[in-house]
Amino acid sequence: MNSTWMIGVVLQERPVGAPPWTAFVVAVALTLVALLFAIWTGRTARRRLHVVTVCFLVPVLATAIYFAETVGSYWVFPAVPLQIHLGFAYTASAATLLAVGSGIAHIRGWVRRSTHAPVAWFFVAAAVGAVATGTWIFLVGSPRV
Ligand code: HEM
Repeated sequence: MNSTWMIGVVLQERPVGAPPWTAFVVAVALTLVALLFAIWTGRTARRRLHVVTVCFLVPVLATAIYFAETVGSYWVFPAVPLQIHLGFAYTASAATLLAVGSGIAHIRGWVRRSTHAPVAWFFVAAAVGAVATGTWIFLVGSPRV
């Protein structure tokens, strides 16, 4: 970590080089496809495929968040939309753990499907809200110069 980089973080300067837009868009698209597939496999009780899909969904979601943070460091976002987005993003992150935990508990027979289902749907709502508000903050924000 060199001093130029640290000064850039403190002054919130634009990072050097081009933002990784392609990786970001690909990761978000893969997350949405995996989310739809997780919903379909869960609704239709394709258990094995559902678990495999969720094992893909979680890391691809983490990758999308990583690239969103990276691309976001090239932008300035208005405070209120940013707070609203972060509310959805933190809720979705916590809900991921709850959805995975309740899914494992359900497949082991510790809880009913009627316990996992609302938790899973809450995660879906929070994740969709995070993607929607994440898109919104880019539309109302401006590139850092
Ligand atoms: C982010 C993570 C997850 C999401 C978004 C998700 C989503 C869903 C959805 C939407 C359903 C259908 C609920 C309904 O009836 O309306 C479902 C059912 C189910 N999920 Fe998940 N799930 C997740 C994680 C997991 C995990 C980690 C497991 C197991 C290891 C799991 C096992 C199951 C099972 C066994 C069912 C019911 C299928 C049946 O009735 O046989 N889920 N899930």
